[in-house]
Parts: sequence; C-alpha cells; structure tokens
Amino acid sequence: MRIMATRRFTGAAIRACSFSSGYFARRLHASSGESKKIVGVFYKANDYATKNPNFLGCVENALGIRNWLETQGHQYIVTDDKEGPDCELEKHIPDLHVLISTPFHPAYVTAERIKKAKNLQLLLTAGIGSDHIDLQAAAAAGLTVAEVTGSNVVSVAEDELMRILILMRNFVPGYNQVINGEWNVAGIAYRAYDLEGKTIGTVGAGRIGKLLLQRLKPFGCNLLYHDRLQMEPELEQEIGANYVENLNEMLPKCDVVVVNMPLTEKTRGMFNKEMISKLKKGVLIVNNARAAIMDRQAVVEAMESGHIGGYSGDVWDPQPAPKDHPWRYMPNQAMTPHISGTTIDAQLRYAAGTKDMLEKYFKGEDFPAQNYIVKDGVLAPQYM
Ligand SMILES: NC(=O)c1ccc[n+]([C@@H]2O[C@H](COP(=O)([O-])OP(=O)(O)OC[C@H]3O[C@@H](n4cnc5c(N)ncnc54)[C@H](O)[C@@H]3O)[C@@H](O)[C@H]2O)c1
Repeated sequence: MRIMATRRFTGAAIRACSFSSGYFARRLHASSGESKKIVGVFYKANDYATKNPNFLGCVENALGIRNWLETQGHQYIVTDDKEGPDCELEKHIPDLHVLISTPFHPAYVTAERIKKAKNLQLLLTAGIGSDHIDLQAAAAAGLTVAEVTGSNVVSVAEDELMRILILMRNFVPGYNQVINGEWNVAGIAYRAYDLEGKTIGTVGAGRIGKLLLQRLKPFGCNLLYHDRLQMEPELEQEIGANYVENLNEMLPKCDVVVVNMPLTEKTRGMFNKEMISKLKKGVLIVNNARAAIMDRQAVVEAMESGHIGGYSGDVWDPQPAPKDHPWRYMPNQAMTPHISGTTIDAQLRYAAGTKDMLEKYFKGEDFPAQNYIVKDGVLAPQYM
C-alpha cells in the first residue's frame, strides 16, 4: 500500500509539474501573510452554546479561534451542514485551503470532494481518527492530513471503563425501570456480575488501550491485549496485561472485548460473522473506536441470538446515525451518540492543538510528528 501511495503521489507530482498546479500548488506551507479560506465543520449546539464558555467544539463557538483567524486576515466559515450536493460545505469545497472537522460530526471528505477542492492543502481533525477522509485520495493529491493526537485519549478511556461497568452491572434496564415507574430487582439481577475476576481483552493497545488497561488494573481482572506491536516488557509488567499475538486465540477467552484500534483498510469489517462466532457466548463488547470495524448486521444478529450479551459504544456508521439504524433497536445495547472524546476537557485540548497546527501552517513549520496521518503523499504506518 505504501508503494501504491508513493506511486500515486509521484504521479500526482509529475502531473503537477507539467501543469504548474496540483501537488506543488498544494504544498502545505504557502508563503506567509497569504490570506487563507478555512472551513470548520462541527456539530450545532443551539441553546447549549452559551451554557459553558469552554464549550468550544460546536459551530457557535468554532474552537474559539474566530477572532484569532480573522484579525490575521483569514476567512473562517463554520457550518454543520455537510451532506448532499447543496449543503453549505459543498459550496466552499472549490476554494477552501483548510478544512477542519471533528469525528463527532464528520465532514466526509471523499475522493470526489478532494478532486473538486483545487485550493485544498490541509485537512485537520479536531480530535482523533481521520477515517472520514479518503486517505488514499488525500495522499495521491498531495494533501496533508493531521489530527490532535492524544487530545482526548483520557476522555475515551474513562468512558470505556464506564461502559464496561454499565454492561457488566446491567445498568440500563434498572435506569429505565426508574424512569418508567417500575421496580423489578430480578429483571436486572439475573444478568448482573462483578468485574473482578473477569477477562478483559483490548483489541488495540495504543494510547487509549493502554490508559484503559491502567484504569482496569485495580479491579482485579485478567487483562489481555492484542496489537500490531507488543509493549516494552517494563510497561507490560507495570500495566499487568498479557500480550496475545494471535487475535483468534485471545477472543474466545474474553468476557469483555474492547475495540481500541483505528478504522483502516485492515480493520474495516474485522468483526464479521465469523469473528463474532469465535467470541465467548454472552461476551460484552465496548467499541468507542469506529463502528465500521464491526459488520453492522452481524452485530445485530449476535445480539438478538444472545451470542453477544451486551454492546456499548458511541460510534456509528454513518454519523449522525439515522433514525432507522438497527443498533438503536438491538436488545441489551447501551449506545450513545458520539460523545466520549468531546468532554469539555477534551474540547479545550483539541481546540488548542488545532490552533497550534494552524499557527505552524501559517509560519511554514512542521507539526508534532505524531499528528500526521498523511504527509508528503504517505500514510502513517498503521493506516498502510
Ligand atoms: N469515540 C471517540 O470519541 C474517540 C476519540 C478518540 C479516538 N477514537 C478512536 O480510537 C482509535 C484509537 O485511538 P488511540 O489514540 O488509542 O490511537 P493509537 O494510534 O495511539 O493506537 C491505536 C493502536 O491500534 C493498533 N492497531 C492499528 N491497526 C491494528 C490492527 N490491524 N490490528 C491490531 N492493532 C492495530 C496500533 O498498533 C496502535 O497501538 C482512533 O483511531 C479513533 O478511531 C475514538
């Protein structure tokens, strides 16, 4: 894949040379002082926008960078209207230079949009996870894709711990009973368990996976992890988790499986019918990574049959999830909209990280190396 990306990139570069547009015109750092058109796509907050001065991640507060951008002569357009040929985003595609989006309300940047975006140089993700962008197309077009790596990893790890407990304790039916004026202890207790002594496996143990494992340690669980890369022995020992190189060996052992890897060509649809059949009957799944790592229908069927005993997560495909999305109606689900990585603390961090990258872009400086998802026509290693 690396070779393909490089080839396409080379092709794009050659085309750019011959027409004096294309790759070189899209080089990340244009001459300083130039006015840029920056478009931000965020979720709308309406009345909630004024309820907290640090609520930066919405359309209304626009990451708190409007004055800063406009006083430097840049144009900053912000919208939540991102779908269809007549949407607000589409109007700005032909002449924008920078597109900022968040995974919570993703602007889907398809190859077609990239083709139309003749001035586009930089795609920034205010958060983590840039799978809403066609990364191969972005690489081939010489675009830079970067995210605020690490900005909301604590937020997501804490949320995952909460979801594990919510499923393990069968919390949601109890909450619903209270709302509905009911009282039926048996209806909850027959499938509520302690976390202690259970086997928890994370598929992906990068920044979020490691933080989750650290947080799980005091619960006295058996902790397993599968990843492309094994941790350093000292870290593994400190966290108290065992590495399982072969995912097929880890899955049947787990009472709880947590997904903590990016959506890539390798992980898309990884949890299909066959993979799910390898899971322990009654397994609980937490997925705050990306919905498309799961085969949507296979999850529904396994929930209906009871093979999966509970599923919780905040990620959907697509987002916002349509009213008829089948995961809304599965038994034993504890789903929410995409919220785990957009706590106020996380918003402050990803707003600051986005501003920092814009500042570097205007000055012609490099971003922190770990932020790059696509640079110079090449995808970050885990996306290849
Ligand atoms: N729900 C949210 O609000 C939210 C917020 C942040 C991140 N996320 C999602 O969580 C993902 C992980 O975030 P992170 O900060 O921990 O990323 P990270 O890059 O630190 O860790 C990802 C880990 O996955 C591993 N991995 C990648 N491909 C793999 C494969 N095919 N098989 C096994 N392991 C593989 C990598 O080696 C790495 O250790 C993000 O990519 C994003 O999709 C969701």
